[in-house]
Amino acid sequence: MRRLRLPRLAYNWISSIGIAIALVIILLMTFLYVIDLFASETNPYLGIFLYMALPPILIFGLLLIPIGMIGQWLRFRKSGELAYPSWPYIDLNNRSHRNATLIFFSGTFLFLIISAVGSYKAYHFTESVTFCGTTCHKIMKPEHTAYQNSPHARVACVACHVGPGADWFAKSKLSGLYQVYATLLNKYPSPIPTPIASLRPARETCEQCHWPKKFFGAQQRLFKHYMYDKDNTYWPINVLVNTGGGGPGSGEESGIHWHTFISNRIEYIARDQERLDIPWIRATNLKTGRITIYQNIEDPLSEEEIAAAAPRVLDCMDCHNRPSHIYNSPDNAINTAIYAGWISALLPEIKRISVEAMAIEYEDEAAARQGIANYIGDFYLKEYPDIHDEKPELINQAILATQDQFTQNIFPEMKVRWEEYPNNIGHFESPGCFRCHFGSHTSADGVSISKDCNACHIIFAQGSGDRASFSSSPEGLAFVHPEDIDDAWQEIGCFECHSGTQP
Ligand code: HEC
Ligand code: HEC
Ligand code: HEC
Ligand code: HEC
Ligand code: HEC
Ligand code: HEC
Repeated sequence: MRRLRLPRLAYNWISSIGIAIALVIILLMTFLYVIDLFASETNPYLGIFLYMALPPILIFGLLLIPIGMIGQWLRFRKSGELAYPSWPYIDLNNRSHRNATLIFFSGTFLFLIISAVGSYKAYHFTESVTFCGTTCHKIMKPEHTAYQNSPHARVACVACHVGPGADWFAKSKLSGLYQVYATLLNKYPSPIPTPIASLRPARETCEQCHWPKKFFGAQQRLFKHYMYDKDNTYWPINVLVNTGGGGPGSGEESGIHWHTFISNRIEYIARDQERLDIPWIRATNLKTGRITIYQNIEDPLSEEEIAAAAPRVLDCMDCHNRPSHIYNSPDNAINTAIYAGWISALLPEIKRISVEAMAIEYEDEAAARQGIANYIGDFYLKEYPDIHDEKPELINQAILATQDQFTQNIFPEMKVRWEEYPNNIGHFESPGCFRCHFGSHTSADGVSISKDCNACHIIFAQGSGDRASFSSSPEGLAFVHPEDIDDAWQEIGCFECHSGTQP
């Protein structure tokens, strides 16, 4: 067999090392790429290795080849052993030059194809849910877990956090670099602060899939509650939420979406980072140009504070701030578990005990599992020994379901609990709509933002058993509070008492 001859200049240590590196990396990449092709889901570490770590090493190896050749040429010239008048020098009549040229062009061609495929794959990989959600496993675990249980579990992280277009793509990759650095050096805050200051305006992300013109009509929602009494009394509330129309051309021009979005621009100033305390609101009717300013008359801002602030324009995220990362409170999570049959309502006081067990602050997930098992087990052993002996399987089932609800909603390692991430959509466990709609935000001519219970929804069924009531009238039912608390529910917000555990 004839030996493959290369130009003399290529025979030096640096170029040889470069060739060796390039060959090894190409073999490794081909091998991993084949694995990746046949794997059902990209492993984040394989992805990082294949699409982010190996390509720079390959390029480094390839660069070493000409660098070594230049060095060799300089050395030859110094020693007078001048092979070529200048460099690069190509003579296609020379067999070794022909070989080198052939290798160079076919290599470059191959390299371009590999990098085209590679950068396409790398682009897709860094946009994937696997990369965003599981690479920095500990940090993103709460968001990723809650996301998988949400209506958006099949929507990629980047659809909401980056959106289409080149400039936000570049911005997100730059801030992504900082996040990788913060992760490596353990510099990230826990819990991760919310709201995200630099989140892209919702118009450009959510509206890719939910355009305002599409909304009309109302949403029927069944809120399933179990009480904290011995019988775990079921207290459902069936509500018709008046989502409303998106504007002209899409039906009814009223309701929650239409008023706050299409024909009105609403801006507000918040006192706090979390945007929970909103003392100042400006509503502009875009059709008539009329501007109304509402101030919280119980606690207004001063003229200087208003002048110094930059009002924020209300968008989808001001109401839908938890479309995907929903951290359910123990009250809410246990209601779901009982309703679904994972916890038997036949166990006396199980609602109260499960909620208490879930709400305790544990060191980590393992401690939580153990703690929940002990808390529920010990309670029945002590208070209901006959049930403890006769129905151990019901108690075990309740323990398992409570543990599951804990691991899906509370993340001790990142200090993530429902209280840290209030949901702004309603007003039951957090101020939500009542940040502005509490009757205390009033304009100069004395008009208040509506607090009328029927402005946003009607209740057409509530309660169960002999206390159940139903309505077929368009006005719905007057709200009945299941426990006698006088008129407290009219005076103070539900969330003041219902904060995710027993009120
Ligand atoms: C349906 C849209 C949507 C999807 C899909 C989505 N997010 Fe979010 N994410 C949001 C919104 C909205 C916020 C809260 C923004 C705010 O309040 O300022 C948020 C907040 C966050 C936060 C800040 C902490 C918090 O909970 O407020 C992190 C971290 C995060 N998302 C990561 C992810 C990851 C990782 C994925 C994919 C596994 C993902 N997101 C998918 C919409 C989304
Ligand atoms: C890539 C498309 C996509 C994007 C982007 C997106 N969504 Fe959705 N969204 C969906 C789909 C699909 C559903 C329906 C899920 C279902 O029916 O279970 C949905 C459902 C919803 C619902 C109803 C949830 C429920 O309880 O049934 C709300 C509210 C919502 N999205 C708000 C948002 C907000 C706010 C954003 C921006 C932060 C957003 N979406 C971004 C696709 C998207
Ligand atoms: C002054 C405190 C207070 C306020 C304000 C309040 N509640 Fe309650 N709520 C209670 C108490 C106490 C119970 C009884 C807990 C039990 O034994 O189940 C209760 C029970 C309930 C229940 C039965 C399920 C459960 O979680 O116990 C519902 C549903 C409910 N309240 C809805 C509301 C709504 C809606 C509002 C606001 C319009 C509201 N409450 C305002 C104190 C309050
Ligand atoms: C003033 C608060 C508010 C704003 C602003 C708002 N929404 Fe809603 N949205 C609601 C409420 C309340 C519902 C009723 C469903 C519920 O109670 O969960 C709803 C329902 C929805 C639904 C489910 C119903 C349907 O018709 O499919 C989607 C999707 C949705 N909103 C998307 C958006 C998007 C996208 C934006 C921004 C363009 C937006 N919303 C702005 C309060 C708001
Ligand atoms: C930042 C303050 C703010 C928040 C938060 C807010 N709203 Fe509003 N909303 C307003 C203002 C201001 C108006 C009156 C607009 C005008 O002057 O035309 C209004 C009007 C409305 C109307 C029309 C009322 C009527 O009498 O017909 C509905 C319905 C509504 N909002 C529902 C909601 C719901 C539901 C939520 C919570 C998901 C919510 N709003 C959250 C400021 C807010
Ligand atoms: C500004 C609009 C608005 C006003 C005013 C309002 N609500 Fe609501 N309420 C909502 C929205 C939006 C939801 C749905 C929240 C969700 O989808 O999770 C809701 C949910 C509820 C629920 C079910 C909550 C649960 O978890 O069980 C009850 C009960 C309720 N409202 C009672 C009232 C009563 C009583 C009043 C009058 C004191 C009132 N609401 C005033 C917007 C409003």
